[in-house]
Amino acid sequence: MKSLVTFEITDRIAWVRFNRPEKRNAMSPALNRRMLEVLDELEFREDAGVVVLTGEGSAWSAGMDLQEYFRENEARGLGAVRQAQREAYGWWRRLRWYQKPTIAMVNGWCFGGGYAPLFGCDLAYAAEDAKFGLSEINWGILPGGGATKVARELLSFRRAMYHALTGETIDGKRAADWGLVNEAVPAAQLRERVTAVAKVLLEKNPVALKATKDAVRRVAEMTFDNAEDYLVRAQEAANSFDNEGRKEGIRQFIDEKSYKPGLGAYRKKPRK
Ligand code: ACO
Repeated sequence: MKSLVTFEITDRIAWVRFNRPEKRNAMSPALNRRMLEVLDELEFREDAGVVVLTGEGSAWSAGMDLQEYFRENEARGLGAVRQAQREAYGWWRRLRWYQKPTIAMVNGWCFGGGYAPLFGCDLAYAAEDAKFGLSEINWGILPGGGATKVARELLSFRRAMYHALTGETIDGKRAADWGLVNEAVPAAQLRERVTAVAKVLLEKNPVALKATKDAVRRVAEMTFDNAEDYLVRAQEAANSFDNEGRKEGIRQFIDEKSYKPGLGAYRKKPRK
């Protein structure tokens, strides 16, 4: 049986693919289970420093599978519905707090439930002609599974409301303009652009990357004072995992004068 999610690792970048192109990478329960396995497998591997999530074929993901996720589970009853939700929400949550930095490489269609992993990824790059939509309203439901929350987190109130109420699609360029993704580039340059961003991340201290990505997400729901306190403690906790990294960074700047932290990363020890 073909794998619904595939991955390969090249130069420390793990390229993970939704692999149901014939169903536009709609998220079925089987795909959701497989995705969690793949994320598990990659999370602490030494040979991968950044995870990119992309789609095979013309879609990134056409959202939840209306047949296998909704109709079939609703026919089985509430227990099946909840189970399918747990599986889907489970890997999206996992992605939000993933150990390694993650990049969504949106190559094509991105609908509804697809907004959850889109937000789960730390950064997002789209093809200019990719299409994004909260299509739920078009078939008579609200954007659930976190999609409404994602729209409110990433878009202005007016844009989120318009996007959700009309179900109109926007292209990659507009998605970048609205802040749904970091940047949109011509499809032919998408992989190259994402590779370049991933390489920047690969130069950084991995403990600092994890602490930073969590901090950016966590402080969003804190008061200023709580955030200040959290950040002190988060840095102290990070020190206990990597006490030498930042000392080395300071040493190369202050003593050796071999780099400027304002302009790039310090030299990490070569990997064994
Ligand atoms: N759920 C189940 N099957 C799907 C889904 C989906 N979300 N999206 C596509 N498919 C299936 C189609 O039924 C079709 O199956 P078939 O070949 O067995 O008939 C196959 O994928 C190809 O789909 P087409 O519609 O033929 O592909 P096309 O490229 O013309 O259109 C598009 C792509 C625009 C993505 C279209 O498939 C579509 O509108 N899909 C639904 C998008 C959507 O609204 N998703 C739900 C969001 S809401 C939520 O996630 C909670």
